[in-house]
Amino acid sequence: MKTEPRGWGAFELADRHRSALFVEKESIRQQSGWFLRAPAWETKHRLGYHLYNDSDHADWLVDRLTNLRGGNARATIPTALMEAVTRNVDAPSEAAFIRGLYLVIKPELLAFYRTTLETADPAANAFDRRMLRRIVPELEEQIEWASHLLADDASEESHDWASAIASLLTAAGGLEGRTDRPAATDAPPLRVPFTIPSSIVFDDRIGEQPIMPHDRKMELVFDKAVAEQFRVFFNEIYAASILASILYQAFDQNVPWAMIRWFTRHFWDEVRHSQFGAVRLSELGSAPDRCDQTLYRNSQQMPFLHRICYLTLVLEKHYMPRKKPRFELYGNEGDQRSQLFADHDWSDEMNHVRNGRDWLEHLLEDDARGVADIEEETMAHLERITGGSATAVSPF
Ligand SMILES: [Fe+2]
Ligand SMILES: [Fe+2]
Repeated sequence: MKTEPRGWGAFELADRHRSALFVEKESIRQQSGWFLRAPAWETKHRLGYHLYNDSDHADWLVDRLTNLRGGNARATIPTALMEAVTRNVDAPSEAAFIRGLYLVIKPELLAFYRTTLETADPAANAFDRRMLRRIVPELEEQIEWASHLLADDASEESHDWASAIASLLTAAGGLEGRTDRPAATDAPPLRVPFTIPSSIVFDDRIGEQPIMPHDRKMELVFDKAVAEQFRVFFNEIYAASILASILYQAFDQNVPWAMIRWFTRHFWDEVRHSQFGAVRLSELGSAPDRCDQTLYRNSQQMPFLHRICYLTLVLEKHYMPRKKPRFELYGNEGDQRSQLFADHDWSDEMNHVRNGRDWLEHLLEDDARGVADIEEETMAHLERITGGSATAVSPF
């Protein structure tokens, strides 16, 4: 008996998931880069949440592709499409970047997911329907956030940039590979290609001021000490920034997806720790006002491998002994709100040190050096960077 075709066959589905995976991964890379350049800390925090959303989507797609006949997850994406999407990272401003990614590229991805979902057969494509029903609302929420953020943005530059990205995408046939595409368009004029900044970009609410050293903080009366400690939490935006620079570079380092996946989690944890600071400072009638960028700047002068070591096995290990006493102090003082944040920070940090060591071991598999050698080399880098003047691992 002959029947009409319905639903997606394994090959077609693998192709569609591969295209979507390319956009999700590229979105992770671009958000990590712009996390460093977007001036408002609220935007940085939101980009952090979205980056981890996209990491979830990419992980589900990788998992699905691994279990699908013909589902090799390494993307074979048409060059024109690849160029249209990757080009957006070079946007001339924060508004142009967000408009290009969230109001051009992500809506194209959303339409693509919806088509996959609408045609999916409830039984044959059940896995895919389940996955897409989780992804779609998150993507809708991201696009809505950007529409609100840019509601009053009338800048010609950002609108021109977004239309140029949209034309490139249309000329490439979009994610569907539409064949009725118009003739190729020129890429938008490029002024400055994206680079990782040597200092984290902030607007003028966040000054470059020192954070109170730990010993001095411990001498303060409780209420004052709490405020200073939540400034330190907000300051963890420096750790999120080191990870953003690691993530941005990781895509060119031929590392396994599982490693990028872990660092998106580590990154999001640090974004949340910084958010703990903003939330608690506001409850205490204050607001984030400073960032000490010393440690971020040091990290940017180290190679990829040593930067991971510096963050996880030098800095995070150095702060670890403070976690338990701080948690207990808040409990003894009856400060439940502060204790809640200290509790989750402590819990997250234990994973960071352990996984950092595991990934370093993985990166050193074909290397004559071991983790202990890299720790030594990292300290030598630090000595060179600071001219030997750093008497302690951290100034705060
Ligand atoms: Fe942290
Ligand atoms: Fe951490």
